[in-house]
Amino acid sequence: MTNVENPAEKTLAELGVTEPSGVAAKFAEVRVRFDAQLSAAVPGETSYTVLKNAWLGRKSGVLTLITENWLRSAAPSLKPVVGQSLNELKRHLEESLEKFRLAADKTSEESALSRERVDLSLPGVVHPVGSRHLIRQVFQEIEDIFVSIGFSVAEGPEIETPYYNFEALNIPEHHPVRDDMDTFYIDLPPSPEKKSAPGQFLLRTHTSPVQIRTMEKRQPPVRVIVPGKVYRRDNPDATHSFMFHQIEGLAVDTDITFCDFTGTIEYFVKQFFGSGVTTRFRPSYFPFTEPSVEFDVSCPFCGGSGTAAGGGTCSKCKGAAWIELFGAGMVDPAVYGFVNYDPKKVSGFAFGIGIDRLAMLKYAIDDIQVFFQNDVRFLRQFP
Ligand code: FA5
Repeated sequence: MTNVENPAEKTLAELGVTEPSGVAAKFAEVRVRFDAQLSAAVPGETSYTVLKNAWLGRKSGVLTLITENWLRSAAPSLKPVVGQSLNELKRHLEESLEKFRLAADKTSEESALSRERVDLSLPGVVHPVGSRHLIRQVFQEIEDIFVSIGFSVAEGPEIETPYYNFEALNIPEHHPVRDDMDTFYIDLPPSPEKKSAPGQFLLRTHTSPVQIRTMEKRQPPVRVIVPGKVYRRDNPDATHSFMFHQIEGLAVDTDITFCDFTGTIEYFVKQFFGSGVTTRFRPSYFPFTEPSVEFDVSCPFCGGSGTAAGGGTCSKCKGAAWIELFGAGMVDPAVYGFVNYDPKKVSGFAFGIGIDRLAMLKYAIDDIQVFFQNDVRFLRQFP
């Protein structure tokens, strides 16, 4: 009851009320004022508190004033009607204020909900996540094929000792094969495995050392593939890089034959290039396999004809109809001597696939250097 004279601040006698009908009229007037204020109030927690204090506040609320000014000092003949009207007014105030509070709560809840509502029609925020490098994708593809036929994946260090990289693979010092595998040498403290002199460390030239590390740790049957980076002192050109990738394969058991070997390789090549290709092998030489072979695949671009689709020589196989894939062979019995396997009891095969060149072949890429230049225009072609 603001801005206008407040009748609750006066006694009934001061207001000139002497009859019960006058009492009812005064209470009706107060009630009209309250209802008017309530309907004019903006729904919300603040209005509720202000109204509640103004009307029901203990110290100076209208109800308290009426109790003190109207009820206490009322003439005995008016007291019952004032008391009854006061109770009715109190009930009306409390009920009306409670309804107001509930409505205010609902309104604020609804407005909070509408504020926080997620608009699913808004375009999302795009966070570019990138994709795996083509070399990683090819690794994965090859791993999946070999894992599906019982191979597991092993790893080994990129910094190796000459023992694992050469000697234990039947490549003694001064062996001419070392010329093809010149690499980067590193000065480090002596190897904890005591298989290298101080300072004699190198970046591995192939994944084959992990053959030795695996056989040292496990007894046959062994069936592993080893993906990883390797290094050589090769000058960069379209097919050479000083760092490239290989996957080694090794299977050793008591009765592995040359047929198991060729069958496994043929299965892999057909899975990787498609069932339309055929394989062949030619004699080759690696100090750690005997016999050693090179596997070729019939050219997937000209269907093994050597002739391009529009006539003329196929540019991929240069008319040879075959493309060289990778080296492999039956594990040389001399290698078993380095890992304490009995060469009379076990046999097996190994292979070493150059991943970069395999990826170039499958995805028709003519320069190995694009793998390492991080040009997004190239990388985006292989999402
Ligand atoms: C080896 O590295 C043998 N360890 C493979 C092996 C394993 C044979 C097990 C028998 C048994 P080689 O030196 O040929 O072999 O290399 C294997 C493959 O690595 C090559 O076929 C080629 O694809 C790839 N490669 C070799 N040098 C480079 C280079 N500088 N840049 C890119 N790829 C290369």
